Amino acid sequence: MEFFDYFSNLFGERWPALLEALKGEGCATELRFGDGLEPYYLDEASVFAAKTLGVEPGDRVLDMCAAPGGKSLVLASGLKGEGSLQSNDRSPDRRLRLSHVLENSLPEQWRSVVSVTGYDGVKFGMHKKESYDRILLDAPCSSDRHVLNAPEHLKVWSVKRVKRLAVEQGSLLASAVDALAPGGTLVYSTCALSPMENDDVVKKILKKRPAMRLDEIAQIPAGADRTECGVHILPDRAAGRGPIYCARLVKG
Ligand SMILES: C[S@@+](CC[C@H](N)C(=O)[O-])C[C@H]1O[C@@H](n2cnc3c(N)ncnc32)[C@H](O)[C@@H]1O
Repeated sequence: MEFFDYFSNLFGERWPALLEALKGEGCATELRFGDGLEPYYLDEASVFAAKTLGVEPGDRVLDMCAAPGGKSLVLASGLKGEGSLQSNDRSPDRRLRLSHVLENSLPEQWRSVVSVTGYDGVKFGMHKKESYDRILLDAPCSSDRHVLNAPEHLKVWSVKRVKRLAVEQGSLLASAVDALAPGGTLVYSTCALSPMENDDVVKKILKKRPAMRLDEIAQIPAGADRTECGVHILPDRAAGRGPIYCARLVKG
């Protein structure tokens, strides 16, 4: 089947162990921000990607593709009620879940600086030019671990679809770059396995937007791999965590 051939070629000798790990249990940690608030369970690799943005109180933050909201919780915990977080997602259904998560898992004071919007991410660059200090683009991706464990999705997986998603990711990333204020920081992340959706998307934006440069992520989790532009956390070496890819860029 196309999925197995493609990734077996890509990962070579590593693929059998990675395949087993992808089929296995994930590794979620509990996010709980106070008594009486709902806990949220999020893969530790996702927590890492969100923390990599380095949000501090007072920042103007955009989470461009935010639903269901796990990473927005981590970003809001960095603000501690000072600054602003716009948690955006284009899907109405997923936005309902996002609002529920933010409403029920954040302390009142932290929630007061969070807003939920439903714009198409590609519009931010034009309509909100240079408006945010920190942007997380956790892009829609081929979600390969989920696909592997869902036969109906596995049947329709194709390299063509990966390429299509990479084009969409490129447009969202260009928009995020344009919405970032000078001196601002952006994290691009996906849960995809293929470099086409990860490093390749970042390399293209670095060519297109010369003001952007890579900012090396100094500390990475045990078992994570450094790639040309960022960090890839894969479950075979990272105790079940991931897949998560993230790269950090700053605007000069
Ligand atoms: C990987 S998920 C985000 C997961 C989320 N960051 C979290 O941690 O819970 C990608 C999200 O992007 C949203 N999305 C897809 N295309 C979009 C677009 N053009 N603009 C805004 N959101 C989009 C999808 O609805 C989906 O919820």
